[in-house]
Amino acid sequence: MCCLYRFGSNPAILAGMMNRSNPLAHEHLLHRLHAIQQQFRHIPPHAMQQAASEFNIPLSQVAAVVAFYSFFSTQPRGRFDILFSNCTSCGYLSGEQDLLRMLCQRLQVTPGKTRADGLVSIGETSCIGMCDQGASLLVNGVPVTGLNADKIAQMVQLVTDGTPIQQWPAAWFETSDTVHRRDLLLTNRLTSGSALRKALLQGSDQTLTVIQQSGLRGRGGAGFDTGKKWQFCRAAPGSARYVVCNADEGEPGTFKDRLLLREYAGTLFEGMALCAFVIGAEKGFVYLRGEYRYLLPHLQIRLDQHREQGLLGKHILGQADFDFDIDIVVGAGAYICGEESALIESLEGKPGIPRIRPPFPVTHGYLGQPTVVNNVETFIAAAHITVHGSAWFKAAGSSTSAGSKILSVSGDCGKPGIYEYPFGVTIRQVLDDCGATDVQAVQIGGPAGTLLSPAEFGRVIAFDDTATGGSLLVFGQQRDLLAIHRNFAHFFAHESCGFCTPCRVGTQLLKNTLNNITDGRGTATDIGELQQLGRIVQHQSHCGLGHTAANHVLDGLQKFPHTFSRRLQPQFTARFDLDQALASARQVTHRDDAAAHLDNE
Ligand SMILES: Cc1cc2nc3c(=O)[nH]c(=O)nc-3n(C[C@H](O)[C@H](O)[C@H](O)COP(=O)(O)O)c2cc1C
Ligand code: SF4
Repeated sequence: MCCLYRFGSNPAILAGMMNRSNPLAHEHLLHRLHAIQQQFRHIPPHAMQQAASEFNIPLSQVAAVVAFYSFFSTQPRGRFDILFSNCTSCGYLSGEQDLLRMLCQRLQVTPGKTRADGLVSIGETSCIGMCDQGASLLVNGVPVTGLNADKIAQMVQLVTDGTPIQQWPAAWFETSDTVHRRDLLLTNRLTSGSALRKALLQGSDQTLTVIQQSGLRGRGGAGFDTGKKWQFCRAAPGSARYVVCNADEGEPGTFKDRLLLREYAGTLFEGMALCAFVIGAEKGFVYLRGEYRYLLPHLQIRLDQHREQGLLGKHILGQADFDFDIDIVVGAGAYICGEESALIESLEGKPGIPRIRPPFPVTHGYLGQPTVVNNVETFIAAAHITVHGSAWFKAAGSSTSAGSKILSVSGDCGKPGIYEYPFGVTIRQVLDDCGATDVQAVQIGGPAGTLLSPAEFGRVIAFDDTATGGSLLVFGQQRDLLAIHRNFAHFFAHESCGFCTPCRVGTQLLKNTLNNITDGRGTATDIGELQQLGRIVQHQSHCGLGHTAANHVLDGLQKFPHTFSRRLQPQFTARFDLDQALASARQVTHRDDAAAHLDNE
């Protein structure tokens, strides 16, 4: 079934996004900076100064935030600010590079730069969550999908004529959520308020017990036991508690939260309110990725409806001691902010640098207080479990992985889109269902996940086998896997927050080495280097980004060694003349005798 999301027909979105007026309230630093970026097309020094005094924080903090998030810039961007998604799926596999070059050439823009007349800037960004929609870009924050040469030619004309984007073809801004398979969560729509009513009836202890008995584990990737998380948070000392929904969905190839936020926002808010009821929180946040900013007006409308129904706000459903409300905070283009402690830093108006853990957010989270962070799908599952019971949930799935998993399937298959399966489904079944034939490999869990060869297609989706936050990318036989590794490596090198050396330097070195091999300049030494570097990045980095950044290369070297070896130079040839490179050093030290030359040593 296909849910068409007519972005262009929503007046609030049009007014908010396309006219570049500010759809965000100003109370959060990121929102203030989004507004400034929209107004001036960059963040000028005087505006930083003003934001620092408004928020009563040091100017250095504002400058650090501006520098950290890729959607803010200190140099003016164009009136039409175009960012192509360079994700493996909605970018590379869909011919993004050719389309980008075409647009840049025709509009005479250097990639990554703003044209001298300020009309247009064109660049790239990481996955924008449109992997089932073909090549995609954001223009002034609004997604345009299904790009092809015709669309690019029309876009050239529209930009050249200065046509406001409200007057661009409305069909360009339509995206569809195609759900090919529904299971526990997507089949049944909960009646608004049913989960909260049940929770209030049975009390918070019993609500927690049901979540614990259900075996629900986090759907964001790591699979931590949700009941335990809520229990730890509830038991932790603190002056306040917080509920945070992780709607950052930055893992390339993942777009299932996009559907959930569009179609099931009410159930999400209810799941968050349930958690608040259990842990005793009065405040919650949805951390919405910057790439989904266009969903904000819709989410705010749904929040207001919830408040009108007495499901949020003071005295929820007439319960005197139950107050809870939710704010939405919009990120600004940083994959690392999906990591829960980085997300909390970002919520606090800081650069999204992961914290040292322990302590964990359940005891020391937002503002140092006990905080539950859960994925969108986890909260929605919690609402269903409360209504239908733990036995209903446990009846689906496997012994280690209860319930269902919603997958975002994309790449070389006939039917990309959303598939919900009970845990335990084989990769082969998913491939059959999505019309994937002649498959060379599958990447499960995004670039940070696992690369599977056909011999492994009997493996199952489960926490104890192939765990995934939701992404399943299919690569046909025609694909150059090395180019895919290179695309992944560029992603990690770009998204590393730079805090720790193994990841900051290691991801760059992995990228450079893969560039060399892809360009035919690699040698057998590079293979050893990839392996060694991969292990260092995996074991010595500070957070989950680094721990997983080399997974794909290590998997590739093990499962598809030929991908690398056939591109190596047969003979070693030095890439530069070391003796010649030392000439200036010899000159400076006035030592140019025979012994100072490398050849003579
Ligand atoms: C680099 C990185 C990115 C992450 N991105 C997300 C994300 O976009 N969404 C998400 O729910 N979890 C993400 N996580 C996992 C979160 O840190 C955290 O485990 C999760 O939000 C907890 O929710 P859950 O228990 O419901 O899965 C990411 C982790 C890392 C290391
Ligand atoms: S592992 Fe990477 S992303 Fe994580 S803290 Fe270190 S540099 Fe930052």
